[in-house]
Amino acid sequence: MDLVEQVKHVMPAGLAGTVSRTVGMTIAADGFPAPVGSIARIDRETGGPLEAEVIGFRDRSTLLYAFSDLAGIRHGNRVRLQRTSRWLRVGEPLLGRVIDAHGNAIDGRAQPSLSDRTAFHRQAPHPCTRPRIDTPLSTGIRAIDGLMTCGRGQRVGIFAGSGVGKSVALGMMARYTDADVIVIALIGERGREVNEFIERDLGPAGRKKSVVVVATSNEPALVRIHAASTATAIAEYFRDRGKNVLLLVDSLTRFALAQREIGLAAGEPPTTRGYPPSVFALLPKLVERAGRTPEGSITAFYTVLVEGDDPNEPVADAVRGLLDGHIWLSRKLAAKNHYPAVDVLESLSRLMPEVTDDAHRRAAATLRELMAAHRDHEDLISIGAYRKGANPAVDLAVEMQTEINAILRQQVEDRSGYSQARDILVQFHQTAAQKLSPSSGAAPGGPAPQRAKGNRS
Ligand SMILES: Nc1ncnc2c1ncn2[C@@H]1O[C@H](COP(=O)(O)OP(=O)(O)O)[C@@H](O)[C@H]1O
Ligand SMILES: [Mg+2]
Repeated sequence: MDLVEQVKHVMPAGLAGTVSRTVGMTIAADGFPAPVGSIARIDRETGGPLEAEVIGFRDRSTLLYAFSDLAGIRHGNRVRLQRTSRWLRVGEPLLGRVIDAHGNAIDGRAQPSLSDRTAFHRQAPHPCTRPRIDTPLSTGIRAIDGLMTCGRGQRVGIFAGSGVGKSVALGMMARYTDADVIVIALIGERGREVNEFIERDLGPAGRKKSVVVVATSNEPALVRIHAASTATAIAEYFRDRGKNVLLLVDSLTRFALAQREIGLAAGEPPTTRGYPPSVFALLPKLVERAGRTPEGSITAFYTVLVEGDDPNEPVADAVRGLLDGHIWLSRKLAAKNHYPAVDVLESLSRLMPEVTDDAHRRAAATLRELMAAHRDHEDLISIGAYRKGANPAVDLAVEMQTEINAILRQQVEDRSGYSQARDILVQFHQTAAQKLSPSSGAAPGGPAPQRAKGNRS
């Protein structure tokens, strides 16, 4: 950012007020007309000054949300304006590092020396300047690359309950993707889970070209929100330098929950099943920042927690409308030790037709048809009541179960890529065609449009 830009953001120096009230993490300051989004410092008797962000005003006081706990704050403490907008220090040395929501190293090594600055809250690129998404990105997970292929610059939701393999899947993506840089935001997890992810799922191989941004569940809501912005800003920085970036945000639900805390603290009404409107205003703002620009791309995967299998949970519902695809991880599959637990028939990449060739699409459609046929007769098949010959598609699906599972299941150590996944699928299609009509060699299924079953699209 140049000097002129920076000067525009300078506020009259010396703006100061006093603390009049606190509720939870919210502080009301009198005589302090600072704008929403600006950062203030509050002097206190014990400990250093406390940083807080202006989140609104009510009556004659300005409301601030603290970045850390309020111990030591008392009535009458001085509140001083520090700055009206935030920047973030960025640069190549971030690769391989673990940082907090404000860019400080938390991996026990020295603070990286960063020469560049970027705006913390950036506007999404203008829709007209966004090139079409036309190249597939290898996620390294065969089921995704083969059956819900994602393009460079696409935004996808991973919908799952807890313990069905999100972290393991994200770790595999980070290790096996062909993206140049990976930025991972871990929002609202417990400290132990963060360690486990970095040590076990990411490992040294995944860390090398990754930047991990962490805000654990015990950090204030605003800090958890900042972690998502920081990760996105770092991804933008690398995209501006021509890189293809993979952004993994785990989880978007906890980001929404954090904004819910802020909204309620600022006095918003909880209009949608306990969520204030600002949550649904903030989600598209964040998600729209990913995507492709003439310089590079940010392909983003956002995890969404769906507990109790309620697909109409308001956050899941809102997110589905914002993204260009969704991947469901199924507890039923995980329970059968079928990993990654991708529920193919419930998952869909809206951009798959744009980034794949005919042969691949036909093969994917065939595999989906066979899976659907199998699922529709699953009850009969499992009790042995299905009679061979009743339905050719079901016969073939039963016969090829082993082949289908060999494609969909993948060991954690099993590296995969887009072209590999495509070739395996096309090979599968040829085998299926031969089995169905050995004489003609005609492929089952036509170039059927790729559509997920159910009402979750
Ligand atoms: N691809 C996989 N292969 C084998 N086991 C897996 C796989 N993915 C997940 N698991 C098992 O499921 C457990 C929970 O996975 P995890 O990714 O931590 O879940 P989540 O992040 O969704 O809570 C893991 O500890 C592991 O035992
Ligand atoms: Mg996890």
